[in-house]
Amino acid sequence: MPYDKAIEVIGLHKVFKLGQVELPVLCDVNLNIYSGEFISIMGASGSGKSTLLYLIGGLDNPTSGQIKIKGKSISSMKDKEASSMRRKDIGFIFQFYNLIPNLNVEENIMLSLLLDGKREKFYKKELDEIIHIVGLESRMKHKPRELSGGEQQRVAIARALINSPDIILADEPIGNLDSKTGTDIMNLLQRINREKGKTIIQVTHSMESVKYGDRIVKIKDGIVLS
Ligand SMILES: Nc1ncnc2c1ncn2[C@@H]1O[C@H](COP(=O)(O)OP(=O)(O)OP(=O)(O)O)[C@@H](O)[C@H]1O
Ligand SMILES: [Mg+2]
Repeated sequence: MPYDKAIEVIGLHKVFKLGQVELPVLCDVNLNIYSGEFISIMGASGSGKSTLLYLIGGLDNPTSGQIKIKGKSISSMKDKEASSMRRKDIGFIFQFYNLIPNLNVEENIMLSLLLDGKREKFYKKELDEIIHIVGLESRMKHKPRELSGGEQQRVAIARALINSPDIILADEPIGNLDSKTGTDIMNLLQRINREKGKTIIQVTHSMESVKYGDRIVKIKDGIVLS
């Protein structure tokens, strides 16, 4: 049975410009990710992993090349369409969490749903479920600065999963968690992948996390090796 492509990366280049200096970070990246796959991206620090994930998530624009999500080129979308797709179809777990400082745990998790005009009370069950899984029941009213690093990471994970997006992009999702919580989160991601058929791309440095995925994509100096 032919798989649907969830994500297509075609001839992708990214060059950062800092004044007169050009810093090439991604060089002709081509990648097909099929619906329901769980991919692990590995590579040294500075090799371009987060940059690639940002581009796939439509959070930054390529210098050249294309990204297609479910067959549709992100760059050809209008801003409004692109941001709606980011909220509905893509859950992003950021390497440095990117929580909103003035919002508490519950508000941070619910933000994208509220932005989409969803009523919080209709998501109470999902919220309770995800809060239980990440173990933050007693931290719901805390602001990010009142949380430990690992707790902030768990909020970021809950926020990415709450509206059940088809594609989950996770940048070192368990980098700051203890091994028990990390294993719980990896099991959760694996379950979401297997039972709900969600497509997952994780960036990781750990061989332990890689075991949960189906395929490794290695990146070196902005070039995809395999
Ligand atoms: N906005 C930016 N402007 C200029 N240079 C950038 C920018 N973002 C990233 N870079 C540079 O691009 C390179 C790749 O960065 P990236 O964050 O993708 O690396 P990474 O593979 O995720 O590394 P790590 O494992 O440390 O998270 C780095 O050398 C970084 O300094
Ligand atoms: Mg990174």
